[in-house]
Order: sequence, then structure tokens, then C-alpha cells
Amino acid sequence: MFISKKVVALAATGVLALSVAACGSSADTAGSGGDKAVECNVGISMPTRSLERWINDGEQLQKSLKDAGCKVDLQYADNKTDQQISQIQNQVAGGAKILVIAAIDGKVLTPVLAEAKKQDAVVISYDRLINGSENVDYYATFDNYKVGQLQGQFIEEKLGLKDAKGPFTLEPFAGSPDDNNAKFFFSGAWDVLLPYIESGKLTVPSGKSPASDADWASIGIQGWASDKAQAEMDNRLSSFYTGGSKVDVVLSPNDSLAIGISASLKSAGYKAGTDFPILTGQDADKANVKAILDGTQSMTVWKDTRALGDRVFTMIQEITAGKTVEVNDTKSYDNGKKIVPSFLLDPEVVTKDTVQSKLVDSGFIKASDVGL
Ligand code: BGC
Repeated sequence: MFISKKVVALAATGVLALSVAACGSSADTAGSGGDKAVECNVGISMPTRSLERWINDGEQLQKSLKDAGCKVDLQYADNKTDQQISQIQNQVAGGAKILVIAAIDGKVLTPVLAEAKKQDAVVISYDRLINGSENVDYYATFDNYKVGQLQGQFIEEKLGLKDAKGPFTLEPFAGSPDDNNAKFFFSGAWDVLLPYIESGKLTVPSGKSPASDADWASIGIQGWASDKAQAEMDNRLSSFYTGGSKVDVVLSPNDSLAIGISASLKSAGYKAGTDFPILTGQDADKANVKAILDGTQSMTVWKDTRALGDRVFTMIQEITAGKTVEVNDTKSYDNGKKIVPSFLLDPEVVTKDTVQSKLVDSGFIKASDVGL
């Protein structure tokens, strides 16, 4: 289990001292008293432009930093690990003092982060944890376990699993095996759903039902690719749903997978409002919000990326001012070398009934973008 307990705490003193020392050693320091102003020179490394959320994440943070007078280099890596590593290398060579990284593969950045540390750069792991390196100073993300838990609880409620007899047919999917978040999403959902599989209220006709949280990667979709999710769903439908049997619910960890899964369901003849399965998602991408409105997706777990950008912006302000960096979790995210002081934000469920109140009224999306 990957339960994250929220505690209000400040960063461990050692880590804090490291950051402050790191900031203090910048060539461009100025300031008076004990506090040292540090050059705000930030490298932002995002995984891909193929998903709306990363475009929003990167552009928003870049804007806040530029408005505050920082030097910013924003790069997208096309979901290619080598590309991301060389982009970060360039940022380090260009003198970045703070790196904000949403890793494609959380396990391969150790050498480049060691380079970054040679010039005392402070590293913030953005949304996804970077594993295996001591040189990760902070982690800012949404509560990833809770994302999955919200998806599992949504299914539990929609099917009335606590009272209903069942059995209902379920097809579960998991995210990219190289993304550290994916196991948290899966665990959160599976801790809710597995007991119902064990008691027979839920059945998984394809057999793609991990026996425990730990086996999640066996059903992971590499690169979070919509087309791979679609092909996998096509296979499951054509092999295991013959002779009129139907799938009642699909656990999709995010919106990009849900796009592929719903395309597959549509081509197999499932219709919104009649037999379309319950289908989960995450991110509130516009195409998926439209799908929620037209009944081909049941929910999305909304992570207001503006809040994440604001939080990282605050962290950067704290770092550059030599102040204590505020975190609220010092237990959940062990990257194999250390427990990374983290700030976890709260994800929320959005359904058809709350698209307007949560997404449109807050300005996250425009009504016209989703045909409202
Ligand atoms: C993010 C999700 C996103 C997925 C695919 C995960 O690490 O937390 O919001 O849907 O990556 O890009």
C-alpha cells in the first residue's frame, strides 16, 4: 500500500541547509543581512507536448517565473528519455540554479542530477518522483494514491458494490511502467476494488487482474499511449466478450488511456446512454471533458495544474530567498536513496454534473472549448 498521510511539517533541516547553501553559493548573489538573494535561473523539463496537461503545466510555470523576472528555459522531451537527459544537460551547462523536472523515466536521471549538483543546483521533482538519486531536493505533486482511490471509490459507488450482488465485469488498466506515479494510481484503485474481485462481485473476463498492488506493471500501458490502450482493449473485447457478454466497467488511470479505450468500445458497438461501461480517467483534458458531457466517459480526476504550478513557484521563491521551503509530507515518497520532502495537493472528482461548477467556473477550461 502506498498510503500518503498528510502531515504539516517543514523540510528536514539537513535538506533545507543544503538548499540554502546551494542558493548561497550562486555567483550572482546579492542582498543584505543573513538572507542571500539568488539568481532565479530555472530549467523546466516537461515530458511531452502530446498531452494537454503538460503544455499547461510548463507554460503556466514559465509565465509566473518570467513575470517575476526569472530566467527560464522550458523544454519538452517528446516522451524520449535520451532527449530529456540531453535537455537537462544543456540547462545545467547553461547555468541553471534550479531544475524543475517531470521525469519521463523516474530511474535514469541519476548521472545528470549529479552533474547538476556540482553547480549546487536545487532539484524539484515535478508531479512524478525521480528515483535512485540523492540529488532530489523537493517533490511537488498531487496525492497520487488518492487519485486512484477516487477512481476506485467512484466505481464502488456507481455499481453500488457495497450492497449489490453483482457480478459485474471489470477490465483494469494501469499507467506507464516507467512512471513512478502509475503504481500509486493503481494501488489507490486496487485497494478499493480487489476485495470485490476476491469476493466474486467483480470478475475480470480477460484475466488481466493483478493478484496484488505489486503486480500492477503487468497491465501497464507504455508511454501512456492512447493507441496502445485502444489496441489492448480491442484484444480484450474480441477475445473475451463474445456471444453477447458485455463489459460493465473499465478502470482507466488517466484521460489519454480513456481516449483509446472509449474509441475501442465505440467501434465494438457500445453506445452512450445504453450499454456504455463506466469509464474512469484523470486530468480533465478537453477531449475527455467533452466525452464526459456526451456520456462516453464517466468521470475524471481533476488535478488543477495551476495550483501545482503556483506551489512550485512558491517553492522557487522560497529557495531563491533562502527561506524554509514549506512541505506537507515527509513520509510517503521514498526514492530509494532518501525520503523526498513533498508538497501534496488534493485531487478532485469531476462528473457531468460538476463540469460547469468545477472546471468552467474556476476558469480551468472555457465553456466554449467543451461545447457548453
Ligand atoms: C501524471 C498524469 C498524466 C500521466 C500521463 C502522470 O505522471 O500524473 O497526470 O496523465 O502522467 O502523462
